[in-house]
Amino acid sequence: MFRTRRLRRSEAIRRLVRETTLSVNDFVYPLFIEEGTNIETEIASMPGIMRFSLDKIAKELDEVVALKIPAVLLFGIPSAKDDEGTETWNENGIIQKAIRFIKQNYPDLYVITDVCFCEYTSHGHCGIIYENDVDNDATLVNIAKQVISHAKAGVDMVAPSGMMDGTIDMIRQSLDNSGFANLPIMAYSVKYASAFYGPFRDAADSAPTFGDRKTYQMDPSNREEGLRKATFDDEEGADILMVKPALSYLDIIRDLKNNFDRPIACYNVSGEYAMIKAAAEKGWIDGEKVMMESLLSMKRAGADIIITYFAKEAAKVLNK
Ligand code: PBG
Repeated sequence: MFRTRRLRRSEAIRRLVRETTLSVNDFVYPLFIEEGTNIETEIASMPGIMRFSLDKIAKELDEVVALKIPAVLLFGIPSAKDDEGTETWNENGIIQKAIRFIKQNYPDLYVITDVCFCEYTSHGHCGIIYENDVDNDATLVNIAKQVISHAKAGVDMVAPSGMMDGTIDMIRQSLDNSGFANLPIMAYSVKYASAFYGPFRDAADSAPTFGDRKTYQMDPSNREEGLRKATFDDEEGADILMVKPALSYLDIIRDLKNNFDRPIACYNVSGEYAMIKAAAEKGWIDGEKVMMESLLSMKRAGADIIITYFAKEAAKVLNK
C-alpha cells in the first residue's frame, strides 16, 4: 500500500521533509508616519498598528531592528491635501523627512516607499482627476516628481502602487536620467480593486470621496490579465513583482512565480490582518497559529517577500 504517513511520524522526520519555511528575512513591515508631533495613535481596525509622528517613532524602529526585520515600507499622512497631491514631492514632506531620519539613525534598515497619491489628494484618488476619472498620463508626470524626491532624500527602493499604465517605464527612465540607476523598483504589478483595503483606508485617511478605484485597480475575477500586467512591468524594468492582496490571490502569486524570473512579493493587506485579529480577540481562532499558517501559505504559493503588519509578531515567534 502507498503509505504517506511514514514520513509524518515524528517532529524530527517532519522537519527533515519540510518543503517551506518562513524566516524573518522574508518580511517587510509597513509604517504609517503622520505629519505633526506627539502622535502615537492606534488604528482602531488594526490592533497593534499605530500612526506615529516622527518624534515618536524611534521606539518602533528600535524594535524592528532588534527583531532583525530587514525592511520597512513607508506610508505618509500629510497635514494638507490638494487636487494633485503636490505634497508628495515636497522635499520637506513627511515621507522625505522620514527617509532622512531613518537612514541617518538606522542606516542598515532598508527603506522602501509606497509611491502613490491617495493619501495626499483631496478627492482620495491615486492621481490627477480629469472628467471624473484618474488621468493616466498626467499622473505619470507627477509620479516621476514624487519618485525623484524620495530618491534625493535617500530611499533604498520605491514601490509604485497606483496602477497607472507605463509607471515602471516612467520611473526607470526618470531615475536613470537623474543619477539613480542603482535604485530598484518593486512594482505593485497585480493589484486588485479589493474590499480588503478597508482598514488601511481608515488608517491612512485615503478612501476616495467619489466613485471607486475600479478603472485602475484590477477586477478580482481576472487571472490572465494579471500575467499580462506583470509582463508589462517586467519588460519595463521592475526589479520585484508584487501581488496584492495576498490571501485571496495565492493562485496569482504562484502564476507569477512560475512565469517570471524575478523575486515575487505579496502584500498581506490590512483587511487580512484585521480578520485574524478580530477572530482571535473573540477567542474563535488561535491568532498566533493562524497568523503563522497564513504567512506560510504565501511563502508556499511562491512569495519571496511578504509585506505584512504581522512582521513584528511573526518575527517574535520565529526568534523564539
Ligand atoms: C495606496 C495603497 C493602498 C494600500 C497600499 N497602498 C490602498 C488602496 O489602494 O486603496 C492598501 C494596503 C492595505 O490594505 O494594507 N494606493
